[in-house]
Formats: sequence, structure tokens, C-alpha cells
Amino acid sequence: MAGETLTIIDNRTGKSLELPIQKGTEGPPVVDITKFYKEFGLFTLDPGFLSTASCKSTITFIDGDEGILLYRGYPIDQLAEKSSFLEVCYLLMWGELPTRPKFEEFSKIVMEHTMLHEQMLNFYKGYRRDAHPMAIMVGMVGAMSAFYHDSLDIQIPRHREVSAFRLIAKLPTIAAASYKYSIGQPFVYPKNELGYVENFLRMLFKVPCAKFTMSPVLVRAMEQIFILHADHEQNASTSTVRLAGSSMANPFAAISAGVSCLWGPAHGGANEAVLNMLNEIGSVDRVGEYIRRAKDPNDSFRLMGFGHRVYKNYDPRARILKKAAHEVLAELGREDDPIFKLALELEQIAQSDDYFVEKKLYPNVDFYSGIIQSAIGIPTNMFTVIFSVARSIGWICQWMEMISGKESIGRPRQLYVGAPQRDYVPLHRRP
Ligand code: CMC
Repeated sequence: MAGETLTIIDNRTGKSLELPIQKGTEGPPVVDITKFYKEFGLFTLDPGFLSTASCKSTITFIDGDEGILLYRGYPIDQLAEKSSFLEVCYLLMWGELPTRPKFEEFSKIVMEHTMLHEQMLNFYKGYRRDAHPMAIMVGMVGAMSAFYHDSLDIQIPRHREVSAFRLIAKLPTIAAASYKYSIGQPFVYPKNELGYVENFLRMLFKVPCAKFTMSPVLVRAMEQIFILHADHEQNASTSTVRLAGSSMANPFAAISAGVSCLWGPAHGGANEAVLNMLNEIGSVDRVGEYIRRAKDPNDSFRLMGFGHRVYKNYDPRARILKKAAHEVLAELGREDDPIFKLALELEQIAQSDDYFVEKKLYPNVDFYSGIIQSAIGIPTNMFTVIFSVARSIGWICQWMEMISGKESIGRPRQLYVGAPQRDYVPLHRRP
């Protein structure tokens, strides 16, 4: 029996075409337009992908109107509360929660691959000390393909798996080394008996002359940040990874393209921009001025950490991090933290302002994550680096799904609005 279709009629010719409608397990159905150009000689135009599904996926689902985020069907709040980042990695990679032996095996494999090839550490010395750690990340992740080229045949499932393990295991080490280099401290080698997130925090903060300790409350908050950032369906950086990977580029190259895309302030760079903005506002009595600026169509200023392409409701990740921020500041005895108070005030004022209400601009994941990281002692320029470490599992799974689904190379078309064909005029005949 034929499924539902959408009939399109070309009013210029009267020609009609029935386009198949495909339904997913959740979310709006899609109309399959692959035959559209062949039948009508027309491309579709959708800059920014406002109405376009770029692929089929089984990994993550977002209902932006309801503020729902599911990883492999599991609600994000349940995972953030009860799971661990490594378990979420397993879930995203294999589609199911692991049995206990499977989880042990998976954790062991990841934690036994945390060290970098020693020669890779030499690369850091080539960077200026004041380089942004994201600049170093872009280079170092791409450079992994120069070191781990025994697993680069992407047609072989085992190679894809080995590359995935290497990325999950080594990115925290690369990220921590970027930080250590920028502050002139010695690199800290991973300690595999620690949990994934605790090991990362240790590599960030340990110095040879002192013992490393961190409150479990802070480690757990950081683990939640990792879980909440692990995947977010076809966002800009994930789409970048899929597109880069669709040319059969190796996974390290594709993931480094994702890191580059994430860096921008409209995407992962927003967490850094939020804290800079809060510091710039400085005090509650200046909030009104910044709200006015955000609403002014002639001012390019936007309230960072507000608004989302998909969420037209409170970002569920922001709700979890707001609670975590309270817990972290209480643990540190800093309930009166002026920046946190300022953020709460800003949120309250924005949420009662017609402009933000009508445009459905709510706090997004970046609004509170920087406050937590800053309280833990992580410098602002590391926020996006940490986002990239956490998101790498999402990129890897989306890349694997794309490769194993044998999608063809991503090649969008365009509406050309440039000069029509014209003849070259030699320089000596031009004025
Ligand atoms: N402050 C003030 N006005 C805003 C904001 C904001 N943060 N966000 C959107 N608007 C306005 C925008 O000016 C536009 O107004 P108008 O209709 O009058 O032209 C309207 O709301 C719709 O905005 P848009 O840019 O068309 O929406 P979008 O879906 O393309 O953009 C966004 C989404 C996240 C890029 C945008 O909301 C933004 O720039 N937010 C600030 C940056 C930020 O927090 N980014 C992190 C996103 S969450 C992390 C991630 O997933 O990477």
C-alpha cells in the first residue's frame, strides 16, 4: 500500500508530482524531494536549513517546542542525573545501555588509550604561548591522522572503531595539554584508574609539587556538563563533520573540521561569550541597558546564552545546569557569587520582557555552563575546548552512522545570482 504523499503542482506547466512523505519515530514527518529536480528542473532553496532534514538518524532527538532532548530515546535529565559520561558514550555509540561486563570492557579500552604519542607533545612547543587553546585543538586533532594512520581505512569497520576509541580517549589529554602549555606548566600524564572526567580535571589542575584533590560535587557537575554536551543532532558542527566525512576524509580530519565550526560564538563559543558578557555588564543595575541593546535592531549586540535555532522553550540542558550551578557554588561556599546573581537577574528580566517572550528566547546550555566551569577554576578560553571534548562522541557517532549508511558525498546546490556569462576583456583594452 502506498504511503502518504504530498502533491506538488507546477503552476507554469500544470505538471504534478506526488512526493512520498516519510515518518520518523518522533518529530515532524519529512517530504522526500530527491526526485524534485529531475521532475521539475527546480532546486529547492533553504539557506540555514530551516525546513530541511539533512539526513536520517537514530542517535538524538530534539523537540524544540516542548524542550525535550533524547539520546537513543533516553531523556537527557535522566541521563544527567543517573548516568556517567562514559556510559553515555557507549549508549550513543552502540544504541543501547551497556550490560555491566560490557561497560567494564568499554571503560577499560577507553582509559587504556588516554596517552598521546610522545612526539605529539613536541607540537605544542611550536605554538605561541598566548594562542587560543581552540586554535591548538583544531591543529592537534587534525594532527592525530599523522600519528594514528594504522586505523584510517574508513571502509573497514574495525578501523572506524579504533579511531573512535582513540578520539574519545585522547581528546581530554590533548585539551588539558593545550591549557598546560598556555600557562607554562608541565604536561600531566593521564591516570587511568580515575574516572574519565576526574582524570581530565586532574590533567588540567595537577602540578608536580602538590597533591590533586577535587570535591566529588565539582567532579559530578563537570560530568553533567560532559553528558549534556555529548550530542545534539544535526547542529552546525555535527553537520560539518558529516559533510567533511562524506568526502571519505579520515575521521581525525573530519572531527577537526567540527572543532573549527564549534569555535564560533553563535555555536560552542557562546559559553565563553556569556561569561565575557556577564563580566562586562558587571552589576545588576546595568542589566536594563544590555537588555535594551539586545532588543535594538540597529545594535548587533545579542544576549549571549539566549535563544536557540531549535529550542523555542527552555533548553532542558540549561535547567539541569542552573541546578548544578547552585550546587557547585554552595559546595564552594559562594552562594552569593555576584556573577551568578547577575545571571539569575538577567534571566528573570529577560523572561518577563515582551521581546524575549514573543521571540521565544530562553536560556540555552551555554548560559550556566560557564558559571560552573569558572567556579571550578577553569579559565574562560577553555570553555569551548571542553565543549569540543564532550561533543566529540556525538561527532564520532554521527560520522560512523553516515559512513556505515553509505551516504553519498554531501553536495548542496545553489541559486546563482552573480554576473551572467560574459567575455574576458584583456587588460590592455580595459580603462
Ligand atoms: N539576543 C537578542 N535577540 C536575539 C537573540 C539574542 N540572543 N537570539 C535571537 N534573537 C532575535 C534575532 O535578532 C531575531 O530577531 P528578528 O526576528 O527581529 O530579526 C530573532 O530573535 C530570531 O533570531 P535568529 O538569529 O533568526 O534565530 P536563529 O535560530 O537563526 O539563531 C542563535 C539562533 C543561537 C544563533 C541565536 O539565538 C543567537 O545568536 N544567540 C546568542 C548566541 C548563543 O547563545 N549561541 C549558543 C547556542 S546554544 C549552543 C549550541 O547549540 O551551539
